Amino acid sequence: MNIKVLTLFPEMIENTLSVSMTGRAIEKGLLEIEAVNIRDYAFNKHHSVDDYPYGGGAGMLMQAEPIYQAYAAVSEKMEKKPRVVFLAPHGETFSQDKAIELSKEENLIFLCGHYEGVDERVVEEIVTDVVSIGDYVLTGGELPAMVMIDAISRFLPGVLHNEDSAYTDSFQGSLLEYPQYSRPETWHDKKVPAILLSGNHAKVDEWRRLRSVIRTAKFRPDLLKNADLTTEEKELCKKILDDEDFVC
Ligand code: ADE
Repeated sequence: MNIKVLTLFPEMIENTLSVSMTGRAIEKGLLEIEAVNIRDYAFNKHHSVDDYPYGGGAGMLMQAEPIYQAYAAVSEKMEKKPRVVFLAPHGETFSQDKAIELSKEENLIFLCGHYEGVDERVVEEIVTDVVSIGDYVLTGGELPAMVMIDAISRFLPGVLHNEDSAYTDSFQGSLLEYPQYSRPETWHDKKVPAILLSGNHAKVDEWRRLRSVIRTAKFRPDLLKNADLTTEEKELCKKILDDEDFVC
């Protein structure tokens, strides 16, 4: 996958994504990420890229032309018109499903806004997806773009050691992931659930499924409406939701 990030802070993107999982994906040639400095496309001698909003109001807006020129420079090298994701608090909320959908694209462009926003005309002209990472306002689109790129990269073949794990994590099938334990068997007087030491894979799977259902009912009951639950699981969820002090 080839990703271009249009930003005023390219070093933020390069420094962060060049390490850990995304860094390894880049080294392995599975992912290519280029941060493109929008300021390089400024059309005045001061290299400014912002201006006052028409109609008044607080702060400055990113102007349309430098963004458009940066987009034109990167997209003209792509075979087909790429999807362009604009990060903004008013966009659709990012999700695991959106990460999977975008992971299938060969090329992606992320547009990171700053100041008080971006001239709407360039958004209309080039953007295909407006995405928010949650109901809070950040100072720019760089962190949201990196959150999205991290989540998307987990679905690129070869990025994770165990391909399946991307698909068994929380949110897959609308359930959260079950709790996990590693050595030692006892830590701070807390024992690892005995079933996980039994070697009985069918029982372990059953236990994990149950724990996923319980965790989802406790922490994210809103997800249950899309989960494929058995009658017993539905009854269990109802009990958990009816009883604030439910312990299992
Ligand atoms: N830019 C500022 N806040 C944002 C958010 N919550 N999601 C995406 N982009 C943003």
